[in-house]
Formats: sequence, structure tokens, C-alpha cells
Amino acid sequence: MEVIIAKDYDTLSKQAAMLLASQVISQPGSVLGLATGSTPVGAYKNLVAFYNEGIVDFSRAIVFNLDEYYGVAPENPCSYRWFMEDNLFKHINIRQENTHIPNGLARDTAAECREYEEKIRRAGGIDLQLLGIGGNGHIGFNEPGDSFKSATHLVELDSGTIAANSRFFASRDEVPRQAISMGIKSIMAARRIILLASGAGKAKAVYEMVQGPVTPEHPASVLQLHPQVIIILDQEAASLLPPRA
Ligand code: GLP
Repeated sequence: MEVIIAKDYDTLSKQAAMLLASQVISQPGSVLGLATGSTPVGAYKNLVAFYNEGIVDFSRAIVFNLDEYYGVAPENPCSYRWFMEDNLFKHINIRQENTHIPNGLARDTAAECREYEEKIRRAGGIDLQLLGIGGNGHIGFNEPGDSFKSATHLVELDSGTIAANSRFFASRDEVPRQAISMGIKSIMAARRIILLASGAGKAKAVYEMVQGPVTPEHPASVLQLHPQVIIILDQEAASLLPPRA
């Protein structure tokens, strides 16, 4: 695990965008795994700026997003499909058919999950996976206690996650209780991973991810076992880590 401590959120965002852009520049047909949440918004803004400056071309890139709320339609502004269109896809030249997000309206969720994994496999696997982290250590929507062996699956959201994500909905009652998420196994299959964390609210989860035992009780701790992980933190998110040489 390489840990980079950026001076602030803007620097963290720029560094993440540079890593994503360089992946696409060096391999234009790259398969990117992308994430939602507040944390990657700055990275996406920088990527859009790089695109507008002619630095990076997404015409051959392929994206698989980590997750989608179950029961939420793509045209709902609370959906992760909407979030990705709004923050990234509609501002760059990625082809619509190359953007993949689990279908939150799938009737047969087991089939949807199998097909999602199959699409990732057919695309050649994920070259670079971007992650955020939940305050409880979740990655994607893999909540504490979920098996490390899981591929894409239907998950029950933890009450802390429902509370944290209620800021994106009119009320807590409107937050879906389930989501379709890539599993830990799917995430660990990515060739390279970048995880971003910003703010004091993530400091404990970051500490446990980097310094704690590897345990399903803290899903992000599994990243200690991945050979190519870069963790980019701002000072607040890094505040509980021991000083580094
Ligand atoms: C959601 C997403 C995660 C994300 C997490 C943290 O629950 N499923 O992929 O990492 O929230 O979000 P934020 O960046 O808003 O703190």
C-alpha cells in the first residue's frame, strides 16, 4: 500500500485525476472502475478540465461503476447513473455504450449481478479501480461483515450508511435499503486501485484500513493484500496515522 498525504482536498483531487488520466493516455482502451460519493467529485472535475484542454481522450475508454441503489431508476437524480452522467460522463467524450452501472431496476438481481461480472470479464477486467471509503470502512457498498469472496451482489445497507447517505435524499426514509454492488472479490481483481479519503470523518476508517487487522469487519482492510494500491488522503483523513518516514 502506497499512502500519499496531500495538503488538501484540491491537491488530492488533482493527483487522483492525474493517475486516471495517465492510465487512459497510456492505454486509450482502458477499463476504469469508478466510484460515487462526494469524495471523487473533485477528481472528476479535474478530469473534465483535462478533457477540455485536449490532454485526454475518453473515446475508447470503458467504465464500470461500483454500485447502484436497488429500486432506483436511472432517471432519478438520486441514482448513481444520474450522478455519473452529471459529474463526468456528459462532460467528456466517453461513449454511452461504454459506461456500465448495475441496473437498479433489475427484476432478477442474481442474473443482473452475473451479467455485470461477465461484462467486466469480456472487457478484459478492470485496469484501474477508483474507490472512496465509508465511515464504517465500506468499499463500494460492501458493508462490515460481507464476505471477501463476494462478486457483484445485492447488499443490505447498514444503518450508518443509510444515515450518512441520507444527505443526498429528501429524507432518511427515502434512502434505499439495498444496493447492487461489485463485491470485494471483483474489486480485488482490478490490476491497480486508488482509494481517496478526505476529512476528519474518515480518519478512523483510514487508520483501520492501513494499520488494523485484515478482517471482513473492516472491508477496506483487504486492500492491504492487493499488490498495487495507492491511498490518497488529505491531512484530516490521515490524522490518526502514525508519522511516516
Ligand atoms: C457510498 C458509496 C461508496 C463511497 C462512500 C463514501 O456509500 N457506495 O462507494 O465510497 O459512499 O462516500 P463519500 O465520498 O460521500 O464520503
